[in-house]
Amino acid sequence: MSLRLGIHDLSLATTSFVVQLDDLAAYAGVDPDKYRLGLGQEQMSVPGADEDIVTMAARAAAPILERHGVDGIRTLYVATESGVDQSKSAAVFVHSLLGLPSSCRAVELKQACYSGTAALQAALGQIARSPEDRVLVISADIARYALDSAAEVTQGAAAVAMLVSADPALVELESATGIYTAEVDDFWRPNDSSTALVDGKLSVDAYIDAYLGAWDDYRAHGGVPIEQIDRFCHHQPFTRMAAKAQRALAEHVGAEIDEARHLGSTRYNRRIGNSYTASLYAGLASLLDGDDDLTGARIGLYSYGSGSIGEFLAGRVVPGYRDHGRAAATLAALDTRTTLSIEQYRALHAGAAIGSVQDVTIAPVSSGPFHFTGVTGRARHYRR
Ligand code: COA
Repeated sequence: MSLRLGIHDLSLATTSFVVQLDDLAAYAGVDPDKYRLGLGQEQMSVPGADEDIVTMAARAAAPILERHGVDGIRTLYVATESGVDQSKSAAVFVHSLLGLPSSCRAVELKQACYSGTAALQAALGQIARSPEDRVLVISADIARYALDSAAEVTQGAAAVAMLVSADPALVELESATGIYTAEVDDFWRPNDSSTALVDGKLSVDAYIDAYLGAWDDYRAHGGVPIEQIDRFCHHQPFTRMAAKAQRALAEHVGAEIDEARHLGSTRYNRRIGNSYTASLYAGLASLLDGDDDLTGARIGLYSYGSGSIGEFLAGRVVPGYRDHGRAAATLAALDTRTTLSIEQYRALHAGAAIGSVQDVTIAPVSSGPFHFTGVTGRARHYRR
């Protein structure tokens, strides 16, 4: 009998602070419907001074370890575009905060918003070889663009932790996958910049080109036709992007467009904003936490990372998945964020790039259990 592999548990964390996009629209003199309807966004999560991808990643993973313990976890992958060091992986900091055993490797992966899917694929390969192992995959990012830029409204932050294992309780991933890699300068972040550079219109086109290319490759490698995919879940730099992508795919294959097949994946993302590597899996969390009973449904997952890589894969929702839902915890995390005024948000944004040259102590301001405490001797420190 072939091994069943996939996502055994999934947990989403975000920051302690939020900006209401109606406030940002008023500040920028923009019609709020551009953000609400044109982009499909209502809020964006913003990190406090003591929050970064390490604290968010640990916050996302902690409930998974409380539920399942650490036995058999021999690999931790942290996928991120927002790394905190050029050499040391964010995963090693997270490993320490979570108290994982020394017999667990800890590695960071990077390819814009895509690398969480690379981590997931690596995890599946490892478990196929050693079915007793479990792999902790965490996608964590802070989307930061320049103040007053067109992309500013598509910022956000979140982390999604997934426990990948044999006999998964949530989603059994199928082996067919479609890949499309093409070099494009649609979005990137030079080593000396704390904000990403983006050619927004090009990135929308590159996203769709990669979607259609990945879809064709998926079909050529044994993937099922579009009619056999019950729900779609996309990387969502802004949630209307999912609708654009679905329209493009429907036209590409000559199928009817059915909004109901992707809308369930946008609820959390509308309130978080872009979270780069975490965005697709925040969409999956949203779908699984929704009112629809998706038992047995096939979910198509489209991962995109600028630069660029697209990958399409699919999985079946496992019977009993609702017994493991985390909707209440996720909604509480979203509802309890503190709203920042636009002045507070702009001051926080301007001060976010603290560098490492001067020692600095950061006071705890966020509500989560993990805090970035500052820099001494050019090294970052965290505490639980
Ligand atoms: N009411 C309703 N909709 C409105 C509106 C209003 N008052 N005003 C504008 N809109 C719509 C526009 O028609 C457009 O819809 P469309 O895309 O279906 O044509 C949408 O809102 C966005 O408007 P646009 O003028 O294109 O926005 P922009 O030039 O400010 O840029 C992005 C939008 C997404 C390109 C920009 O925010 C960006 O670069 N973000 C970062 C990169 C990114 O997210 N890339 C995605 C792929 S990875």
